[in-house]
Amino acid sequence: MRSVNIAILGCGNVGKYVVKNLFELRNFIKEKFSLDINVKKILVRDKQKERIAEGFKIPQHLLTTHFSEIIDSSPDIVVELIGDLENSRTYIRECLNRGIKVVTANKLVLTFDDEIFQNPNVFFDASVGGGIPIIRTIINSVPDDIYEITGILNGTTNFILSYMEEGKDFQESLELAKKLGYAEPDPSFDINGTDAAQKICILSALVFGVRVRPNEILKEGISFITKLDIDFAREFGYSIRSIAISRKKNYEGEEKLEVAVYPALVPSDSPLAQVKGNLNAAVIKGKRIGELFLKGEGAGGNPTSISIIADIIEASLTYRESKKEFLAPNDKLIHHDMMVSKFYVRLSVVDNPGVLAKIADSFGKNNVSIESVLQKGRGITISEPVPIFIITHECLERDIKRALEECSRLDVVLQTPFYLRIYQ
Ligand code: NAP
Ligand code: HSE
Repeated sequence: MRSVNIAILGCGNVGKYVVKNLFELRNFIKEKFSLDINVKKILVRDKQKERIAEGFKIPQHLLTTHFSEIIDSSPDIVVELIGDLENSRTYIRECLNRGIKVVTANKLVLTFDDEIFQNPNVFFDASVGGGIPIIRTIINSVPDDIYEITGILNGTTNFILSYMEEGKDFQESLELAKKLGYAEPDPSFDINGTDAAQKICILSALVFGVRVRPNEILKEGISFITKLDIDFAREFGYSIRSIAISRKKNYEGEEKLEVAVYPALVPSDSPLAQVKGNLNAAVIKGKRIGELFLKGEGAGGNPTSISIIADIIEASLTYRESKKEFLAPNDKLIHHDMMVSKFYVRLSVVDNPGVLAKIADSFGKNNVSIESVLQKGRGITISEPVPIFIITHECLERDIKRALEECSRLDVVLQTPFYLRIYQ
C-alpha cells in the first residue's frame, strides 16, 4: 500500500466534494489501487466559513489561509480548485518547480499558460465536461484518427436552454443555475460562450495538436435566443443547444480546422437534443471507431469531484516525462464566413402581400436556397409586425450574412434579422 499525501487549494463547490468523496472512497481506493490517499491541508480565504457537502463537514483543522503551510505539509500532489488566473497560476508553478504533481480543473490557467498546459505532470480531466471523462477518453482510450469532437460543454447554458424549453424564463433559469453551483463566479463567461470556448480550445489542442485560442474562434452566446426561437425550432423538428465544435474540414484542397461555439439547432431526435439540464455531452468521431457519445453531469461539485479523484489516482500511479507539443494555429483555422451550414432565420416583417417574394429574392441573389418557411398568425393591424421563420439549404455563412444584410434594407423588414446555424 502506497501512502499519497495531497493538499487542496480551494474548498468551494468542487473542493468540498473532493474532500468528502476522498474520505468516503478511501477504502475503495485502497482496495482497488493500493493507494492510501491522505488530505493534509486545504487552502482557503476564510477559515471561519462553514463548509458542508451533503452533510459532511470539512474538518476545520485541515484549513489554512497560508500557502506556505500547503508546501510544509509535503504533498505528493496538489489539487488546484481556486479557479482564478493569477493566484492559481502562481501556486501551480510553485508546486511544479518543487516537483509536486498538480491536478486542476482550471480552464483559465490551461488556456492562458502554455507552460502549465504542456507540463506532463499537470492532470486536468475535470476542466472539460465536469464529471464526464472526456479528456481521459480521448487521451487514453481512442488511439484513432479523430476527425471531429462536438460537445455540449457548458452546463449552465444547457440548463437555461432546457428550462426555457419547458416555458421558464431566462433570468429565472440563470438564478437557479447559480444557486445550484453550476455557473462560473462571473456567469457571463457561461452565457457568452467563453467557458465553452476555453474547453473546446483545450480539446482541439489535445485531439488535433493545434493550440487554438478562444479569441481566435467563432464564439456566440445564448442571450439572443427567445422563447419564440425555441418554439419555432421545435415546429421545424429541432431543439436549440449551445454546442462547441472542433472538426477537420477539407478547404480548397487543404486540411483545416473548424472550431466554434454557438447556439445551434440540432434535430430533436438526435442524442444531443436529449442532453438536458446541467448535463454535458461529447460526440467523438473517429475514422475507425465511428461515433462515440459520452453524456453526463458536466457541472456541479459532486460529479466533478469524481474526475478530480480519477486524476489524483492517475497522478499517483504515473510519472509522465514528455511535454505535450502543439502546432501553431495560424493558417489552420477556417474563417467562419467560409463555414458551410443550413441556417434558421427569424425575420420580423410587415404582413403584406409580396413580402415573401422580396425576401426570397434577396436570398436567391446571394446563393441561398430556402428549404422551408413558417409564418404563424397575422398582425391585428396592417402595420403590426409578424415573425417569419425560414430554414435554408446548405450555404456559406458569408452568403447568408449578405442575404440578411440585403433583407434588412427592405422596407418590409422591421428588425435586424436573426439567424442560427443548424448542426449536421
Ligand atoms: P468556488 O466555489 O468559487 O471555490 C473557490 C475556492 O477557492 C473557495 O473555497 C475560495 O475560498 C478559494 N479561493 C479563492 N481565491 C483564493 C485565494 N486567493 N487564496 C486561497 N483560496 C482562494 O469555485 P468552484 O466552483 O469550486 O470551481 C473551482 C474550479 O473548478 C474552477 O476552476 C472551475 O472552473 C472548475 N470547475 C467547476 C465546476 C462546477 O460545477 N462548479 C465544474 C467543473 C470545473 P473561500 O471559500 O474561503 O472563499
Ligand atoms: N460553469 C461551468 C458550466 C462549470 O456551467 O459548465 C463547469 O465547467
